[in-house]
Amino acid sequence: MKPLVALLVLANAAMAHDIGSQVTWSREISRLTARHCVSCHRQGGSAFSLETFEQARSRAKEIAKAVLERRMPPFGAVKGFSDLRDDRSLTQEQIEMVVLWVQGGAPQGDPSLAWKTPLKIAAPAEPRTGAEWSGAQLRADRTFVAIRPKTIGSDSVRIVAQRPDGSIEPLIWLYRYDPKFPRTYYFRKPLRLPAGTKIIASEPGATVALLEPAR
Ligand code: HEC
Repeated sequence: MKPLVALLVLANAAMAHDIGSQVTWSREISRLTARHCVSCHRQGGSAFSLETFEQARSRAKEIAKAVLERRMPPFGAVKGFSDLRDDRSLTQEQIEMVVLWVQGGAPQGDPSLAWKTPLKIAAPAEPRTGAEWSGAQLRADRTFVAIRPKTIGSDSVRIVAQRPDGSIEPLIWLYRYDPKFPRTYYFRKPLRLPAGTKIIASEPGATVALLEPAR
């Protein structure tokens, strides 16, 4: 009995190792970075390039840390609190894949499988917006398509709209929002709010602008 058990344990260990080392730059990671990172991390972009295997490997540990701590890609808002577009943040599975890749020694794998550079990244089409509104209470019915943080003192702030009937519409939960990466968050659908609606922030002094559709 004993040798068999030992063998099984060994086989398991070998398998676990295999799964770890199976994540490669060419097959998995180059695709993930292409979709989630290189819009900023490229030559001529806003941050150092992560377009090639060599560039990514030389920063492998940093990359694992940044995605584990959910600092990258910077989105700055909590998923699912309100209905926002263009959320490029990684799923738990994607984060684990990156970590497995780094733990496995950041292997390149078969270069012929790699995502081909140069990449053409279409910037997400942002709806045009019109006037900007900020205040505490709506004096007239209004429709908004986006929200933009203005003064945010803490890195975690929830903003909601309270209609005159008392019902609450979550607008955004800024979480680890870093003013270094300012951005406008677009709602998936235009939001109509009646006169008398109050805009309420969980932190005193926090302000946002709400953007109306372009005319
Ligand atoms: C919206 C643009 C943008 C996207 C998308 C983005 N980054 Fe970054 N990233 C930056 C900028 C700008 C910096 C430099 C920050 C600074 O100067 O402090 C940075 C810094 C980093 C750093 C080094 C500093 C740190 O915080 O650890 C790592 C590692 C990193 N990014 C990895 C990634 C990875 C991996 C992805 C994709 C999963 C990604 N980034 C997506 C803009 C972006």
